[in-house]
Amino acid sequence: MIKTITCIGAGYVGGPTMAVMALKNPGIKFHIVDINQARIDAWMSDDLPIYEPGLDEVVKQTRGKNLFFSTDVAGAIKEGNMIFISVNTPTKKYGVGKGRAADLKFVELCARQIAQFAEEDKIVVEKSTLPVRTAQSIKKILSSTSNGHSFQVLSNPEFLAEGTAIDDLMKPDRVLIGGDQNEKGQKAISELVNVYSSWVPRENIITTNIWSSELSKLTANAFLAQRISSVNAISALCEATGADVEEVAYAIGTDSRIGPKFLKSSVGFGGSCFQKDILNLVYLCEFFGLHEVARYWEQVVSMNDYQKTRFASKIITTLFNTVSGKKIAFLGWAFKKDTNDTRESAAIYVADQLMNDEADISVYDPQVEEARMYKDMEELETRTMDRNKKQLSMTEDPYEACKDAHAIAVLTEWDEFKDLDWQRIYANMKKPAFLFDGRLILDRKALSDIGFEVYTIGKG
Ligand code: NAD
Ligand code: UDX
Repeated sequence: MIKTITCIGAGYVGGPTMAVMALKNPGIKFHIVDINQARIDAWMSDDLPIYEPGLDEVVKQTRGKNLFFSTDVAGAIKEGNMIFISVNTPTKKYGVGKGRAADLKFVELCARQIAQFAEEDKIVVEKSTLPVRTAQSIKKILSSTSNGHSFQVLSNPEFLAEGTAIDDLMKPDRVLIGGDQNEKGQKAISELVNVYSSWVPRENIITTNIWSSELSKLTANAFLAQRISSVNAISALCEATGADVEEVAYAIGTDSRIGPKFLKSSVGFGGSCFQKDILNLVYLCEFFGLHEVARYWEQVVSMNDYQKTRFASKIITTLFNTVSGKKIAFLGWAFKKDTNDTRESAAIYVADQLMNDEADISVYDPQVEEARMYKDMEELETRTMDRNKKQLSMTEDPYEACKDAHAIAVLTEWDEFKDLDWQRIYANMKKPAFLFDGRLILDRKALSDIGFEVYTIGKG
C-alpha cells in the first residue's frame, strides 16, 4: 500500500504531474524535491516557477495538505514508498555521444542517492524520458550499491505537452506503465495502476514490458515531430507553387488515417523534447548498427533546422538583402503559446541568424523574462554578452517593440497577437512595413489591406 510518493525533480514535468496526482489522491502524501533551492522557493510561493494554465489552482488546493516541496532529497527518499525520477535528461554536450545521446548523469545520481538513503524496499519509477534499456542501468546501480533492500523499477513516461499540461494530466489519452514480467514486477505495476486509477479509466492505462514502455515514449515524440517536419517540408513547396499549406493540411487531415492534429505548419518545432528525443533515437540506432534507421529519423531534425533558417533568410532577402542596423520586432520568444519555456525555441535561432546579419531585435513576449532570453543567447555562444545586449532587447509593450521597426516576425502563436491594434502598429513602422507570420495566426488579407507586405509560411 503506497502511503508516500516522492518525486525527484520539480520541473515542468515533476511539478504539474505530482500536483495533479496529489489532487486526485488525497490519501497519499506527495513530496517533491529538487536541488535547485530557488525553484523550490518559487513552488512554495504565489509566483510558481512555471507558467501553465490551471496549475495555480491545482497547487493551491494541494500544497501544504498532501503536497510538499523541499530540497531534502535524502529525507524524501527515506520517506517515499514509491519514488519518481523526473529530472532533466538533456542532449549530451561532451564526450561519447556528444550532440546526440541523452545525458543521464542526473538520472544516475538519483539512482545512487536512492540506493544510499533507502531504508526499505522501494518502487522506483522512471518519469524522465530515457533511452530504451536505461532501466537496466538503474537496476544495476540500485542493486550493487543498496544496503540489502530490493527495488522494482517501472517506466512511466509522461506525455503531457506544455501549455496544456493540466488538461493533459487530468484527461490523458493513455497512461503507459512498463515493468518486469515477473510476479514482483507485476505487483509494482499494479501499485502504480492504483494511483492512476483514482481518475484515469482503467482501459486507458496500458501496461507493457519495461523496454516497450521506454521505447514508446521516444517513438511517440519522433512520430509527432515527423508530422510537423512533413508539413513544413510541404510548406516550402507550397510557397514555390502557389498552393496554400493550410488548405493542403486540411485536405489531407480529413482522411481518417491521417487525422487533423499536429499538421500546423510553423517556423519550426521547439521545446525541450522533440529534438533531444529524436537525436537520442538516432544515437541509439547508430549504437545498434542501424544506420539507415538513424538517417531516416535524423532528417526530421534537419528539416526543422531548414525551416528556421529558411524563415530567417526570407526576412533578410525580403528586406532588400540586408537587415544591418534595421529594427526587427519579434512577437513571441517562448517555443509555443501558454508557456514561459523557451528551450529550443525557434525564436532563438531566427534571432541568431538575423543578428549575424547585424539586425537589431526588439522582443515582446507575455510570459518570458528578459534574463531568460539573454541566457538563451548566451548558451548559443555565438557572440559576447555585450554584443547580445547591443543587438537584442525586450520590452513589456508590443507596440513599443514594433515602433520604428522595418519588419515584424511572429515567432509564437500567443492568442493576444491576433487582437493587437494593427492599424496603430502599421502607422508607427518604417515603410514599406513587412510582416512575417511564422505561426499562421494572423489575417493575411486584413493586414495587407492595412498596407503591410505580408509573408506567411506556406502561402504561395
Ligand atoms: P526540468 O529541467 O524542467 O526539471 C528537472 C529538474 O530536476 C530541475 O529542476 C533540476 O534542478 C532537477 N534535478 C536534476 N538533478 C537532480 C537531482 N539529482 N536531485 C534533485 N533534483 C534534480 O525538466 P522537465 O522539462 O521537467 O523534464 C524532465 C524529464 O521529463 C526529461 O527527461 C524530459 O525529457 C521529460 N519530459 C518533459 C516534458 C516537457 O514537456 N517538459 C514532457 C514529457 C517528458
Ligand atoms: C511534446 C509532446 O507533444 C508531448 O507529448 C511530450 O510529452 C513532450 O513534447 P511540447 O514540446 O510541450 O510537447 O509541446 P507540443 O505541443 O508538442 O509542441 C512542440 C513544438 O511543435 C512547439 O514549438 C509547437 O509550436 C510545434 N508545433 C506543434 C507545430 O509547429 N505544429 C503543430 O502542428 C504542433
